[in-house]
Parts: sequence; C-alpha cells; structure tokens
Amino acid sequence: MGTWHVFMEAMVVLLLVMPEPSVGRSWWMGNTENLSCPCSRLEWCQPISTKTEKEVFAFSLRNEESHWELFDWSKLTTVVMFGYVNQSLMCLAHSHGVRAVILGEISTSEMVSPSLRKEWVKELLTKISENFLDGVNFDYENEVLKNETMIRDAYTSTVRETNDALKAVNPNYQVSVDVAWKPNVDSRFFDYPGLANASDFLFVMAYDEQSQIFGECVGGPNSDLRSADLGLEIYMRDPAYRIAPSKLVLGLPWYGYSYECIQLKGDSCFIKKVPFRGVNCSDAAGRQYDYGLIYEVLMTMPERYKWNASSSTPYFTYTDEIYGTTYQVQFDDPHSLSLKCKLAKQKGLRGVGMWNIDSLDYTDSATGEHIRSEMFGAFSAFL
Ligand SMILES: *[C@@H]1O[C@H](CO)[C@@H](O)[C@H](O)[C@H]1NC(C)=O
Ligand SMILES: *[C@@H]1O[C@H](CO)[C@@H](O)[C@H](O)[C@H]1NC(C)=O
Ligand SMILES: *[C@@H]1O[C@H](CO)[C@@H](O)[C@H](O)[C@H]1NC(C)=O
Ligand SMILES: *[C@@H]1O[C@H](CO)[C@@H](O)[C@H](O)[C@H]1NC(C)=O
Ligand SMILES: *[C@@H]1O[C@H](CO)[C@@H](O)[C@H](O)[C@H]1NC(C)=O
Ligand SMILES: *[C@@H]1O[C@H](CO)[C@@H](O)[C@H](O)[C@H]1NC(C)=O
Repeated sequence: MGTWHVFMEAMVVLLLVMPEPSVGRSWWMGNTENLSCPCSRLEWCQPISTKTEKEVFAFSLRNEESHWELFDWSKLTTVVMFGYVNQSLMCLAHSHGVRAVILGEISTSEMVSPSLRKEWVKELLTKISENFLDGVNFDYENEVLKNETMIRDAYTSTVRETNDALKAVNPNYQVSVDVAWKPNVDSRFFDYPGLANASDFLFVMAYDEQSQIFGECVGGPNSDLRSADLGLEIYMRDPAYRIAPSKLVLGLPWYGYSYECIQLKGDSCFIKKVPFRGVNCSDAAGRQYDYGLIYEVLMTMPERYKWNASSSTPYFTYTDEIYGTTYQVQFDDPHSLSLKCKLAKQKGLRGVGMWNIDSLDYTDSATGEHIRSEMFGAFSAFL
C-alpha cells in the first residue's frame, strides 16, 4: 500500500515536470533527454563532422518551416541562415547530416580595429556554439578601392582570425567567403588568394553579371555560361590568384531580372541608364524576380521562351497589355543551371550552390512540386 502511494506520488511529480506534450511540434524538435539541446535527438546538437567531398551550398532567407520541410535535403550539404538564426532549422539540417551556418555580419570599422575584430570573433563563436551551428559565411560586398589596402587586409585578417578561432574549437567548423563572378568586379579589390587561404572555400557568385554594363545599355543575361567559365579561369589560372578548384564553389542564381525596354531593336532591350560604381548603365534598371514567379509568368505565354545560344540562358520579351510597356526577362532555368553545374564538375570544383533556396514555389501544388524537383534536380549534373 505504502509503496503504491509513493509510486503514485512519484508519478504525479513526473507528470508535473514532463514537458508539455508536443502537439503540432515538428518531429525534429523537442528533446527530453537534455534541456539545453532543442532537438529531439541529442546527437543533432553536435556539429556535423563529415568531410563533404562535394558541396551543395544553399542560402536560406526565409525563417519558414513550410519551406525547410520541402527542401531536397538529399542534395544539400550546407545551409546559410541569411538574416536569421533558428535552432529548429539547425536540428532539421543536422538530422539530414547538413551543416547549418550563419552570416558573419561585420562593419568596416569593426574590421579595421584589431581589438573590435577580436571581440566580434569571440561573440560569433559564442553565437555558433550556443546555437549548435557549424560555421559562418562572409558576404562583405562593400566597395574596396585598389588603394584601400588597409580595409582589404583587415578583411582577410577578419576571415583568418575567425577561421583560426573556429577551427581551434572544432576542426569541422566551416568558414566560407562570397566573391563576385570574376575578381574585382564592382570595385571590390579584395585579397582573393588570401581569403581563399584563410577559409574553407570561396562562393563564386556567378550572377549579377550586368551590374556594370560597359557596352550598349541593353539588358543581358544574369549568368552567362561563358562568363562563369571566364571568371573561374581567372580565379584558378591567373598568376595573381591561382586558387585551387577545391577552394571554389560555383554559386548559381535561382532568380532573374525583368528589364523595362525603353526601346526594343530586334531582340535588344534598351534600358534606362542607372549608374553603379562609376559605370553609367547597370542591372539596377531592372528588377529581380524569383524563379518561382518567373516560371508562373512564363507559363501564361510559353511560346515566348527563347534560348540565347551565346550565353546558354533563356529569356523572354513581352508587352504588358494594359500599359503597353515592353519587358525582357533574363533568367536561369533547370537547363541553363545544369549546364553550369556540368562546368563546375568539369573544372573539378569543390561545389555548387544557389542564391537563394527560397525562390521557388513551396506549396504542395503540382507546379510547386514540379519546379522544386527540376531545380534541385539540376544539381545532379554536378554530383
Ligand atoms: C546537453 O547537450 C549539450 C549539447 O550537446 C552538451 O554540451 C551538454 O553537456 C549536455 N548536458 C547534459 C547534462 O547531458
Ligand atoms: C523557428 O522556427 C519554428 C518553426 O519550426 C518557429 O515556430 C519559431 O518561432 C522560429 N523561431 C524563431 C526564433 O524565429
Ligand atoms: C584612393 O584613391 C581615391 C581616388 O581614386 C582617393 O579619393 C582616396 O583618398 C584614396 N584613398 C586612400 C586610402 O589612399
Ligand atoms: C596561407 O596562410 C598561412 C598562414 O595562415 C601562410 O603560412 C601560408 O603561406 C599561406 N599560403 C598561401 C598560399 O598564401
Ligand atoms: C557617363 O555619363 C556621363 C554624364 O552623362 C558622361 O559624361 C560620361 O562620359 C559617361 N561615361 C561613360 C563611360 O560613358
Ligand atoms: C545573348 O547573350 C549574349 C552574350 O552574353 C549577349 O551579348 C546578348 O545581349 C544576349 N542576347 C539577348 C537577347 O539577351
């Protein structure tokens, strides 16, 4: 009797301290073994330790579970939480053996001060370990003029000191740096070999190639296959760089540009002159659109699809029926992306990736499923 009573009391206490039943909570969240780990399995709070041979590197902009659930995790190796941190995504990524990293946001004034820099690295490390993350991605895109060698070297030092600090805690932590499709584009005179040496790899953004249009002021491809090739060749073979292919990940666009044509001559869409960093004409005259949206618009006029054989990218031109305005949409689709993935494979690069993973239709509609399977599928040409 007495024993039974004690047992019942123990049950009551147990029930009281048990966490709320996880109604509607995702299967990868909620750990009863260890309160400091938010994942449903303790091992998912460990940083990923696999050495990935081939990277598939994704930028996620949306703190949105409905998207994460539908990522093709079998293709990914790293997800950058761009502009947010959520342990729920960390648990899900880790459950699939995928790294979850954050953005390394540092100002120029912090970078150039060795003491502020040190403080910043310390805080970053805390943020990474407190959230059970796997590393950091640097996306510093400010102008750094050729003579601004102090800023240039401060950036390299920031990346090196971050890498040293992270690797000392866990050699599996990952540090990556975003660079333009070709060195020094948009007046970013970085120390590219230094950044490559100080990090695990560079994410080469093979897009926004019309950010400085030097010839006629017309809309052009966002991600020309030949420019991707040229940019990579310079990074790899130019004596000023000589960066090993194992240090390069080819970043691909899951978005395009819609340009308003102030004049259309043949297929050339002349655009308004909007200057950027010393050049009179730029893609700032256009508007960026996610592939998901572009696909939807194109499906209303599929006959307008055109393939540009010199850039190996698609585009279409149409006139708005209500306002009579003509637009040209320059974009990438699964076919153009798979060609660039093939290029990355031929060059023996470390990986491929996309800006950004949220640019698709993440509803359970047939269209959504179709475009997700095609877009994630394009990475197969690299794998
Ligand atoms: C709980 O999990 C964290 C992260 O894996 C670990 O560092 C800590 O030692 C664990 N604590 C206990 C009491 O098991
Ligand atoms: C993280 O994501 C979950 C969904 O899995 C959501 O409920 C939660 O509010 C998010 N947390 C933060 C801090 O944004
Ligand atoms: C770099 O050159 C520009 C002119 O091109 C000049 O305005 C600027 O002061 C110079 N900066 C340094 C740090 O020398
Ligand atoms: C890479 O950096 C290390 C210092 O961390 C230096 O000793 C080495 O010479 C560098 N290698 C190259 C190729 O720059
Ligand atoms: C840019 O525009 C300005 C003002 O219209 C003009 O003076 C300059 O020559 C142009 N630069 C180039 C490179 O065309
Ligand atoms: C096709 O691609 C070439 C090479 O990038 C470019 O010069 C040309 O403007 C493009 N044509 C169209 C219609 O976009």
